[in-house]
Amino acid sequence: MQLAIVIMAAGKGTRLKSRRPKVLHQIGGRSLVEHVVAAAAQVVEPKDIYVVIGHEAAAVRAALQHTGVRFVMQGEQRGTGHAIQTTKPEVEGYENLIVLSGDAPMITTETILRLRDFHLEQQAAMTVLTARLADPTGYGRVIRKNADKPEMAADVIAIVEQKALKPEQRSAPEINSGIYAFRTEALFKHIGELSTDNAHGEYYLTQMAALLVKAKERVVALETADVHQVLGANTIAEMMELDAEMRMRKAQALMAEGVTIFRPETSVIDSTVTVGADTVVEPFVQLLGQTTIGSGCRIRSYSVIEDSTLGDDVVVRNGSIITSSLIAKGAVIGPYSHVRPESEIGEGAHVGNFVETKKSRLGAGAKANHLSYIGDAEVGAATNIGAGTITCNYDGKAKHRTTIGANVFVGSDSTLVAPLAIADGSYIAAGSTITEDVPADALALGRARQTVKPDWAKKMRSRKN
Ligand code: UD1
Ligand code: MG
Repeated sequence: MQLAIVIMAAGKGTRLKSRRPKVLHQIGGRSLVEHVVAAAAQVVEPKDIYVVIGHEAAAVRAALQHTGVRFVMQGEQRGTGHAIQTTKPEVEGYENLIVLSGDAPMITTETILRLRDFHLEQQAAMTVLTARLADPTGYGRVIRKNADKPEMAADVIAIVEQKALKPEQRSAPEINSGIYAFRTEALFKHIGELSTDNAHGEYYLTQMAALLVKAKERVVALETADVHQVLGANTIAEMMELDAEMRMRKAQALMAEGVTIFRPETSVIDSTVTVGADTVVEPFVQLLGQTTIGSGCRIRSYSVIEDSTLGDDVVVRNGSIITSSLIAKGAVIGPYSHVRPESEIGEGAHVGNFVETKKSRLGAGAKANHLSYIGDAEVGAATNIGAGTITCNYDGKAKHRTTIGANVFVGSDSTLVAPLAIADGSYIAAGSTITEDVPADALALGRARQTVKPDWAKKMRSRKN
């Protein structure tokens, strides 16, 4: 067996001051550890990926179950060295191991492959992935024998943690990413020599560099120019920096595919979203989760679209919220529409301002342009729902459906009490409360007859008191 990947994800993340374990915090719409697993799964099969879990193990396991990776339990978290030691029974049969950190989410498949190839080419016992940071504070530093000659690979002497740096080492710019390749046999031959003689009293995996050098094994470093790939997310601020970077990369990838994104630094687009060419995304738009947007659409500012599919040429006007719904080609939504889960808006249909839909289907060309609630309803093609129409779908106990046929005209301010069926081509008079089914092509009125009292107002005004 050739290569396994171990992902360390058992730590608590004390610096986050959060109840949620660090590796389950999200950037770019996905948890940190899911990003790492996604990159690793392009290098080896999921069954050759071992995730070390411990703190909130059940939650981390649940988040990753769908990926098919294996889990190793580190009951007590006694440091990164201890985390790897825990995996020995599972992984000692592999020739080489790549170790990734569950909290370094921007690592890419390409970089893991480069690390693997360099490690094998160098026939090293340990290869450390490094980067040079303008501000390396907080990271372990890679100390090389020939620091001025980075092209000389076999020259790592040690990795020194921030707290153990000597004053003259504090500005050393080359950081340890916490990402390594090991020859498995050399790693486990010496891992028992790790000590807890350090600031945290933990077993540091970083100490392996010095131990292997002492044992005359080859320890090398591979520097990456893309510093974001190795940045750890240890605090909320660091996470938000990576989130911004990841979303900017997503926006750039979409722009390269022909999508126009105005002020991309203001958009929030999850890694999972797809958008067709010639679609325009205005500033301050959020596209989240499993969202697919066709081509030629326009998504106007302050709209939030989540887990939804939009066909081609859809216009979403300002401030609309669309969740878990389908919007067909050429439909117009908004401004300020709330399209709630399980809505299906037909081709060319309009859902206008302050209209809320839920679990409802609007046929092709149907219109609900102003101030309506359409819940648990079926609306036929080309039907017009007048301003202020409400489907009364809830009787205090259960939800009921309203079925409205095609080419129906529902007058403004109608109250449609479900369960109710209104057949094709009928008219509902404005201001009606409709409680009984309406046959095709009929007119239904359900309101009090108007009374007019001549001169009533004039008399009222002339009264003494
Ligand atoms: C570690 C490195 C540091 C490096 C930095 C890069 C050590 C001692 N230091 O520091 O040199 O610059 O990463 O980001 O390794 N974990 C476990 N079990 C444990 C402890 C930690 O699985 O017992 C996991 C954590 O969940 C985390 C990863 O290991 O995903 C790294 O641990 P963390 O505490 O973040 O290490 P750093 O202090 O960032
Ligand atoms: Mg860390």
